[in-house]
Amino acid sequence: MNKKIIIVGIVILLLVALVGGAIIVISQNKTEENENNALTNTNNTENNQMKNQVINETEENNVKNENLAINVPTTSQENEQNTNVSNSKKSLVIYYSRSGNTKQIADYIGEKTGADVIRLETVKAYPSDYDEMLDYAQEEQRNGEKPELKNKNINIEDYDTIFLGYPIWWGDIATPVYTFLDEYNLSGKKIAPFVTSGSSGLSGTPSDIKREEPNAEILDAMSITSSTLNNYKSLTDNWLSKLGF
Ligand SMILES: Cc1cc2nc3c(=O)[nH]c(=O)nc-3n(C[C@H](O)[C@H](O)[C@H](O)COP(=O)(O)O)c2cc1C
Repeated sequence: MNKKIIIVGIVILLLVALVGGAIIVISQNKTEENENNALTNTNNTENNQMKNQVINETEENNVKNENLAINVPTTSQENEQNTNVSNSKKSLVIYYSRSGNTKQIADYIGEKTGADVIRLETVKAYPSDYDEMLDYAQEEQRNGEKPELKNKNINIEDYDTIFLGYPIWWGDIATPVYTFLDEYNLSGKKIAPFVTSGSSGLSGTPSDIKREEPNAEILDAMSITSSTLNNYKSLTDNWLSKLGF
């Protein structure tokens, strides 16, 4: 009887020990699982933080790049700026006028285009008497004289288009303008001649300019005679718009 009780007791103890062991193992596994989950969560959090950092940094870089793109001109922008520099070169109205006809057109062109205006003047004054002047100019032309100009050191390199104004003297360009063409090299410039006369018109003078300045581009010339002088503003407007001004 005692033996039986002892055996049953041992069996019960074994069972309790088994169940207890099983419970401990299960609970340990759970703890590990929880720990693993906790680790995974931590890793996920860290990963997320890193991702966010990368995203932030990328965004920062993008912003920096955008800023760079704004601040640093691209080659095409540089080219544009360079082009703008050359486009920003000014126009010049340069003219000779003895009795004021060519002057009023020159001033009007300056007003309309914003070009600088320079009046050529001779050191030695011409005769004020008209008949005397006719003789004097004829003599000057025959002798091939070029009257000295008061204007010195005109910064011609500042300009790319030159409106060149002159009266016709004995069928030719007034001699002070020949002095100017002699003294300055207008290679690469665009020259737009505007001419006043009694009635002769251009008298072939654009070809004379081309002869003097073979490397300049001679644009369409405007001729204003005594019969069209009153209309000089509308004629000049038309001419300028044809030239693209
Ligand atoms: C010396 C001299 C020669 C001239 N020769 C001519 C000529 O050959 N043909 C012509 O139509 N007008 C001739 N003219 C008239 C001028 O070309 C004309 O009056 C011109 O508009 C004057 O311009 P200005 O007032 O700007 O000096 C001559 C005038 C002068 C003073």
